[in-house]
Amino acid sequence: MVYRSPILNVMTAAAHKAARGLVRDLGELEHLQVSKKGPADYVSKADRRAEAILRTELKKARPSYGLLMEESGVVEGSDISNRWVVDPLDGTTNFLHGIPHFAISIALERDGDPFAGVIYAPVHDEMYVAEKGAGAYLNGRRLRVSARKSVDEALFATGIPFCGLPDHDLFLRQLQGVMAVSAGVRRFGSAALDLAYVAAGRYDGYWENGLNPWDVAAGIVLVREAGGFVTDLAGGRRMLSGGGILAANSALHPQLQRLIGGSGESGKAEPEPA
Ligand code: IPD
Ligand code: CA
Ligand code: CA
Repeated sequence: MVYRSPILNVMTAAAHKAARGLVRDLGELEHLQVSKKGPADYVSKADRRAEAILRTELKKARPSYGLLMEESGVVEGSDISNRWVVDPLDGTTNFLHGIPHFAISIALERDGDPFAGVIYAPVHDEMYVAEKGAGAYLNGRRLRVSARKSVDEALFATGIPFCGLPDHDLFLRQLQGVMAVSAGVRRFGSAALDLAYVAAGRYDGYWENGLNPWDVAAGIVLVREAGGFVTDLAGGRRMLSGGGILAANSALHPQLQRLIGGSGESGKAEPEPA
């Protein structure tokens, strides 16, 4: 699909090119080289190959832009306003277990704020795109966050910490608050797709502690452009600097924040979405 926006065409073309290798590697897991970055935190040759393709394609298209990539870190650019923020394979643990729920996530950060986002789920062939002020789309169809207003009909998503990650007790308290009053909680294993599903109205809200900029930068644009509301867990704007993430429509966002015990004291919550 060709978009009106040249920048989305660059991002989607790069995602499609990297996805071909991921789908091939998914079929050959038994031969895939995997190494450990930390407890229960793996990186595979598939992650690295996809990242190398994305770096080449994005650099070729916009040579002056910088990059922040999960596996290879920061690549400075001469254009200090524009930076790609890339997770070449979000959902690596799913991928390594042959679970077909993972995505490539590419964001363009402009002057420190997520400006455009592309999240591509290759097995389901779902291309989520959004650009500031131009709406959010799934395979060309306009997206809106869900219209549900009460938690007892709401389905939420989250990320469950695992060995090596902190805050297990905090998470259990948050989960207790949400599960007691909601229609359910899901943990599918890809933060980028969790945000894309909020933008698509499949989830009514999503929260997760911690996370890295490359996990959430593209999804933030998608949720905002689909009419949703994204803050850190305290209702502020530290989503890209470890403040966690809380995304929902404007009716459920404050309710979800209260249920997980987010105080809302630090920083000013975002203004209503455009
Ligand atoms: C992970 C996924 C997962 C989230 C983890 C992330 P990765 O990304 O987004 O859903 O709970 O915290 O690290 O490691 O597969 O790119
Ligand atoms: Ca990730
Ligand atoms: Ca990753």
